[in-house]
Amino acid sequence: MTKKSDISTVDFNDENSNISNNPTFENVLSARLSRRGLLRGGVGTAGTALLGSVALVACGGGSDDPAPAPAPAPAPAPAPAPAPAEKLLGFKAVPKSLADAVVIPAGYSLSVLYALGDPLTTSTPAYKNDGTDTSFETRAGDHHDGMEWFGLDASGKASLTATDRGVLAVNHEATTDETRASFFLHANGGTTTLPRPASEVDKEIAIHGISVIEVTKTAGKWATVPGSGFNHRLTALSDIEIAGPGRGNALLVTKYSTNGTRTRGTLNNCGTGKTPWGTFLTGEENWFGYFTRAAADDAARGDKSVTALKRYGSSQGGASRHGWESAGADDKYARWNISKLGVSGDGSDDYRNELNGMGYIVELDPLDKTKAARKRTALGRFAHESAAFGVPVVGQPLVVYMGDDARNEYTYKFVSTAVWSAADATATDRMAIGDKYLNDGKLYAAKFNADGTGTWLELSFSNPVVSGFAGYAFADQADVVIHARLAGDAVGATKMDRPEWGGVNPANGEIYQTLTNNSNRRVEPASSSQLAPDASNPRVYTDMKGATAQVGNPNGHLLRMKEGAAGGTATTFTWDIYLFGAEAGADSSMVNISNLTADQDFSSPDGLVFSPSTGICWIQTDDGAYTDVTNCMMLAALPGKVGDGAAKTLSYTKADTSKLDVVTQVGKAPTADTLKRFLVGPIGCEITGLAETPDGKAIFINIQHPGENTKAADIADPTKYTSRWPSNAGYGAGSRPRSATIVITKDDGGRIGT
Ligand code: FEO
Ligand code: CA
Ligand code: CA
Repeated sequence: MTKKSDISTVDFNDENSNISNNPTFENVLSARLSRRGLLRGGVGTAGTALLGSVALVACGGGSDDPAPAPAPAPAPAPAPAPAPAEKLLGFKAVPKSLADAVVIPAGYSLSVLYALGDPLTTSTPAYKNDGTDTSFETRAGDHHDGMEWFGLDASGKASLTATDRGVLAVNHEATTDETRASFFLHANGGTTTLPRPASEVDKEIAIHGISVIEVTKTAGKWATVPGSGFNHRLTALSDIEIAGPGRGNALLVTKYSTNGTRTRGTLNNCGTGKTPWGTFLTGEENWFGYFTRAAADDAARGDKSVTALKRYGSSQGGASRHGWESAGADDKYARWNISKLGVSGDGSDDYRNELNGMGYIVELDPLDKTKAARKRTALGRFAHESAAFGVPVVGQPLVVYMGDDARNEYTYKFVSTAVWSAADATATDRMAIGDKYLNDGKLYAAKFNADGTGTWLELSFSNPVVSGFAGYAFADQADVVIHARLAGDAVGATKMDRPEWGGVNPANGEIYQTLTNNSNRRVEPASSSQLAPDASNPRVYTDMKGATAQVGNPNGHLLRMKEGAAGGTATTFTWDIYLFGAEAGADSSMVNISNLTADQDFSSPDGLVFSPSTGICWIQTDDGAYTDVTNCMMLAALPGKVGDGAAKTLSYTKADTSKLDVVTQVGKAPTADTLKRFLVGPIGCEITGLAETPDGKAIFINIQHPGENTKAADIADPTKYTSRWPSNAGYGAGSRPRSATIVITKDDGGRIGT
């Protein structure tokens, strides 16, 4: 996602449509005597902080910094030396940074691999990066986000062991806009008034979606392979199949697909997942804002669709993010207006149902572009981030953990009906395997109890609480999964501080969920969109960004869960809070509860990926709260397990001096050896997406939207761009900032994070 700061008007990336009155849970807890289990002394030991500013120059390594002196040629060795003992997190922590550069630890190198506009074919001209480029259907899209690696053997077949040839599937979430236009994409910054020119809109539609790009390592150097037969793009206009319970449902009937089996495009592709059978999953996140709805559309509809639209952020009279609907009469533009305009009873003559075609986990086989992508409706429709599989067990259902990133939304899991067969891991018709596991199963939303237990609540039409919900009259199970948020309201799931990526610890199967921040937590909520702190979202505090007070939970936290005895199919779990984001100097009793030091402190966790090779938990930030002190970053963590800490009571004082005591569960605080900052990005970016080669010796990371706070009016003056990365690191033409994939290797050939 983008833009967590400087929000002046509508923010299409940060909705809050959950004003359901299901209990926000443990808002008022018994005034049990405060038993502070974990009052650790000392504010984040300041010793390391002073090292920060001087260490920056010593970090070296990256192509963004002066190259270190070449290492002397190794002396010939008579016999292979024993490999040096590997120490996870053995690198020296990177200090916080405001530099317009990617900073990584000493002993590591990086290179830029694949930036906005880079060609996918040999006939596509090199990217000029001056706003005149076209043909984005054969170029890298914008705002690189989640990403996965798919290895290739020498014959071009899928390989689980290949380490020097593969394809990357890369999400292109959005584009850098200020008012409507994607200003870095157009020579003069683009047209911000309606109607938008079709020539601009066509480019903007094409820079959304997904890239599939082959990458190879030759003589130690990684590069893309323009012209590879694997290379292709999905855009916001590509034909995609509807799969699962929603396929053919009345809610998906449109003028484009009168039988409700297809739709066009995938939008705002954020987090990712990789299936155990080797396909790519992409989450559609902030899609509602791309569509407009007429001022009197609620009355024109006059049915329950109005309730559903509002629950997903769409209000009548709402302008669209880019005004794509204004570019002409062609159907490819008209579909961005979801008003009821036709006279049919079923929506087959307009796009009143078009919004129901977005908001899914979409499956794609990156190694077989002849197969259409499929929207897996069984996994629910919401603002999807990642899709993290539980560790597959032969003979057991597969489990997928997911978050809905909007304020006060839910965490979910999907449990397949089909049980895992190991032979499916190497099947060649991978999309058919996807049909087997992802079209039929049970969808649950999570409820967190103050005592560290929790319940998975099934979102099923056969549950009277769902089918009899007063807030919305579900018609069938397809209606339930398409309106999973409303079903979550019905069962009373816990409203969370913006669930972003989830990940599963391969060592023990525990589930990690980042909760990035929430500006709507209050000790005393003053509106239906504000929530009191609860056990699983326990903090309300004020953080200063310069002179600006930020209230709520500006820094976010990471929650983790351990399934009950039944494993992935369990309906109960235990949980605790692994880490609280905070500034190192913040109050350690109420804010910096994890006692983060200057080498560890972070804000707004978003991306989270466990390395299959090393087991390191990589944590990435998309922050607008701590950015007065540091650009967004990536940390390496070696977490413990659920329950390794203790309960803690956060005691708040209300205006009338009465107390609100919130009991929460706090994981064991990290040490310098278990949490360390590994990377800081350039100005204005978020760090997101992580893929690695199976040997763990190369990782691919995305730098999204450097320079996003540049003013569109400054487009003609590069000196006013807030970032000029990656051209300032020697990559590519022009000076407009570009989202890009980078690759990081260790100079001694070791695994990343050691
Ligand atoms: Fe696309 Fe919620 O980040
Ligand atoms: Ca601050
Ligand atoms: Ca995200």
